[in-house]
Formats: sequence, C-alpha cells, structure tokens
Amino acid sequence: MQIAYIKELPTKIGEQVTLRGWLYNKRSSGKIQFLQIRDGTGVVQGVLTANRSAPEVFQSAQALTQESSLVVHGIVRQDNRAPSGCEIDITSIDVVHLNSEQFPIELKQQTPQYLMDHRHLWIRTGKQVPILRIRDAVMHAIRQFFYEYGFIATEAPILVGTAVEGTTTLFKIDYFGQPAYLSQSGQLYLEATAMALGRVYWIGPIFRAEKSKTRKHLTEFWMAEAEMAYYDHNDNLTLQQELINYIVNRVIDEREQELMMLGRDIDLLRAEVTLPFPRITYQAAIELLRKKGLEISFGDDFGAPHEEELSNHFGKPVFVELLPKSIKPFYMKRDPSDPICVLAADLIGPEGYGELIGGSQRVDSLDELKSQLAEENLPAEPYEWYLDLRRYGSVPHSGFGLGVERTIAWICGIRHIRATIPFARQINRLYP
Ligand code: 4AD
Ligand code: MG
Repeated sequence: MQIAYIKELPTKIGEQVTLRGWLYNKRSSGKIQFLQIRDGTGVVQGVLTANRSAPEVFQSAQALTQESSLVVHGIVRQDNRAPSGCEIDITSIDVVHLNSEQFPIELKQQTPQYLMDHRHLWIRTGKQVPILRIRDAVMHAIRQFFYEYGFIATEAPILVGTAVEGTTTLFKIDYFGQPAYLSQSGQLYLEATAMALGRVYWIGPIFRAEKSKTRKHLTEFWMAEAEMAYYDHNDNLTLQQELINYIVNRVIDEREQELMMLGRDIDLLRAEVTLPFPRITYQAAIELLRKKGLEISFGDDFGAPHEEELSNHFGKPVFVELLPKSIKPFYMKRDPSDPICVLAADLIGPEGYGELIGGSQRVDSLDELKSQLAEENLPAEPYEWYLDLRRYGSVPHSGFGLGVERTIAWICGIRHIRATIPFARQINRLYP
C-alpha cells in the first residue's frame, strides 16, 4: 500500500493509500462514521459504515478521540462536494496514540488569550495550518526572488555591540561581563557584506523591546533585508515593488487552496500588487492627511490611523518617500535637493496592514556619517568598523528591510500578526 499525503489524493482516485496523521474531528450517526483526518498538508474525510466495514475497525474508530494520532488505510473516492475533491473509504486503522485526555482546543470560538496560551496545540487546528503553509511559501518566494536576481544569501550576527534603529528598543544582555544587545536589524553588517559581494540579502530574526502592544508589533520577528552596492534611492524602490509583486503572485500560485480556506479575496490581492506602486512624498502625504481631517504636522511620525487613511486612499501598497531626517536613523543619506529630508521610503501596505518595508539610500561619505552619528548622540567608537566602510572604497548603496509577519498577515487577510508565526513573542508573552 502506498503512503500518500492528503494534498496528493485528488490524483489518486480509485487507489489504495495509507495516510499518516491525526484525527481532526469526528461525526457519527450510529451506522456511519465520518472521520476528519489531517496530516499537515490538508484535511480529508474518511468514511466507515457499520454494514460494510469490519466490526473491529468500526469499533476502534468509535473509540478515537480528537487529535489522537493514527495511520489510515483506504481507497480514495472522488466526491465533488468535498472541499478536497475526494473522500477515503477506510478499510483499516492503526491507532498510533490514543489520547486519554480531552484535547484542550475545542473546535469552536475561544478567547485569543486562551488560544495563545495553548499555541503549541492551537497550531494544529482551523486556519492555523493554512496560515503556516502560506508562511512557508512567503519565505520560499523571498529566497527564490533574490536567487533569481543574482543576490548572494548571507548572514548577520544576532549578538551585537551597537544599535541600528535607535537605543530605546534594545534588548540588553550580559556578554561575559560586557554589555551586548540582540540584533534590531542586520543592516550594518549587510552593508559590509555588500561591499564584498555586491548585492546581498538575508532573512533573520530581529529583536525589539517594543513597549507598544499592538496587532502589528512583536518583540521577536523576522525581517528580509537586502543591501545593494551601486543602487540609488530609485533603484531601491524598483526592487522593493518587484519583490512584493513576486511574493504575492508566487503565494497565489502555490497556496491558492489555503488562501481560499482563509476566505481571502484573491482577485483583490492580485490587483493590489500590479506595478508600479504609487509614490508620494512625506510632505505631500502630510498635506493629504490634513485635508482628510487628520491631525498631523511636518516632523511627526505616522501612527496607525495615518497609515490606514493612506492605504484606503491608494488601495495599493504606497511608498511614502523623502521623510524628515529628524524621525529617521543616523545612517540615511540626505536628499541633496532638500537636506532636511532623507532618501528613504516606507512602503505602507494596503487594507490597513501598516508599514511593510522600511528602506533608504545610505550615507556614503565619512564626514557626513560621523556628523550624523554625533547628531544622534551615538559614540563613534563602537561604529569604527562601520565607518571603515566609508574609508575604503565607499560607493553609493541602498537597502531595505521587509517585515515578514506583516507581509503574511496582509496576504492571509488576518488582523493580528501573532498568528503568522508559530510562537509569537510579545511584551506579555514568553510562554509557550
Ligand atoms: O523600518 P524598520 O525599523 O527598518 C530597519 O530596521 C532597517 N534597518 C531595515 C533595513 O533597511 N535593512 O523595520 C523594517 C520592517 C518594518 O517596515 C516592519 O514591516 C517590520 O520590519 N517591523 C516589525 N514587524 C513586527 N514587529 C515589530 N516590532 C516590527 N518592527 C518593524
Ligand atoms: Mg520603519
């Protein structure tokens, strides 16, 4: 008998197969039992009838409890009413582990707090499997995109001695008696690697002691960061929009069924990522928002309401570019035609999903970088290695960081990013 995955069953109609999985749910009407079996690739219904199944098989099925693990042997039958397009007529069952205790996640509404407390079990149920399968496709699409573009995959350290994105969100740790931090961004290291390899990227874990408890912030998340020698601000934005377009189309190709299980409007998603994405200067965005009655003035950072208004206005990802230096980190290059602004852009996602990407052209002159460090009251000494990049063969270069979880939340159409990662870390959550 051939071992099969549930996702492959539509190609195996009429064949005898063996499935290895778990009992997701069960319905019975005395003479007939319906077992929902899942294996991580999908869910299929298995059928047993009292008059056709062997009595011992029928009885062992009756004893099965939710999330018990089992190996099922049966014949695949086409059924156009089934979401998977087929069912299994079960001939026998090997019970691998019969749960004696009631599974803690009942397949009905439970509070987010309860579900997050049981995240290790919650991930087996409902929408969590399709979401995590979409996460897999997003990660793969990012790697594939950069590979096809000729980028070199690289790494940055997680234990670091310097801040990138300001000192307020650093997790401080003791490194053999010396202060160290968990990385807020691999950018500075990628800048060094880009000077060696040209164009580089990584997908790495990022740590931020975010005091804000919102649906868009985690304290540990994943960022896809890229750094490109000889790319200016415009080249940077062109690459970013191509990346987003690529990811979304790949996910639609590879995970259409999962998107449908989440009830995602796939046509909308496809329309949102048609190129090019609109671009608006920070200055023009402020004027637009004020016209729409929101309170904001030049030099303010956007809050969630501002981002939401912009995303509704454009209905697509939108680049807000040329932002004031005062609200941006030390490494961004000033706009030569308006030095109070920097050659940076934030990509605001549609449907209120917030900032998906932050990026900029980097300062490439030594004197300018030194003075911008001083402006931020950052000591030069820990950045000496970074300053070296401007001492030896400095070139114009740019880069960006894409928030992986926010991107997944948008693609899945789920409100809170805590469900886009297997085990979310938030200000009040370190368990499980
Ligand atoms: O805009 P950010 O802070 O940019 C940087 O760290 C740059 N050094 C990246 C670079 O240029 N290489 O972060 C980039 C993206 C944001 O746009 C957002 O999508 C995501 O990372 N992000 C978060 N996602 C989840 N939880 C948080 N607390 C996040 N903070 C930022
Ligand atoms: Mg940002």
